[in-house]
Amino acid sequence: MTTPPEGTPAPLEIGRRTVLKAGAAGTAVAALPLAACSSTLESVPPTSGPREVALRVNGEVRALSVEPRVTLLDALRERMGLTGTKKGCDRGECGACTVLVDGRRIKSCMTLAVMQDGREVTTVEGLARGGELHPVQAAFVRQDGLQCGFCTPGQIMSAVAVIEEGHTSSDAEIREWMSGNLCRCSCYPNIVAAVREAAEEVR
Ligand code: FES
Ligand code: FES
Repeated sequence: MTTPPEGTPAPLEIGRRTVLKAGAAGTAVAALPLAACSSTLESVPPTSGPREVALRVNGEVRALSVEPRVTLLDALRERMGLTGTKKGCDRGECGACTVLVDGRRIKSCMTLAVMQDGREVTTVEGLARGGELHPVQAAFVRQDGLQCGFCTPGQIMSAVAVIEEGHTSSDAEIREWMSGNLCRCSCYPNIVAAVREAAEEVR
C-alpha cells in the first residue's frame, strides 16, 4: 500500500469533520429562513380573522365584523337577520339568493361580504316604500307568481333588475333574462306575466 504524501489527512477523519461541519452549517441555514419568514409574516396582514366591513343595506349603513370566508348571503341572513333572501343551492345555481349590489343583480351565495365592503345592497325587504309594495311585488301577487314562495324573493329581485335593464320586450326575452332563477313549482307562466305587467306599469 502506498503511503500518502506528508500532510494529507486520513480519509476517515476528513469525512467525519466534513459531515459534522456541514450538519452544523445546515442547521444554521435551515434556521435562517424560518427566522426570516416569521418576521416577514408578522408584517403581512392576516388572511383570516374578522374584518370590519360596512355595507349600506336597504338604505341603512350596517357595520359588521366578519370572517373573510363569510358569504354576502350568510352575512345578510345570519348576521343582519334579513331572511327574505333565501338560500337554495348555496352554489350559484338557483338564484334564490339574488340581491342587488349597486343596482346590479348578484347571487349573494357567490360573493364574500368583505368583497362588497362600502357597496349598496338591496334585498327584498328594501323594495316596499311607505307600506306600499313595489310594483313587481304587487304584480307577483296579482298574477299568482308563487306557490311555495321559496324562489320568489330572488325572482322578484331579478325581475326588478330585468325591467331596469330593459329586457322585457317579449315573453321570450323575459324568460331568457330570468333564466338564472329557478322555480321548482313551475310557476314560470305566472312569473313571466307578472314581470310583463310590472314592466308596463313602471314605464
Ligand atoms: S342559493 Fe345562491 S344561487 Fe342558489
Ligand atoms: S314558488 Fe315554489 S320554488 Fe318557486
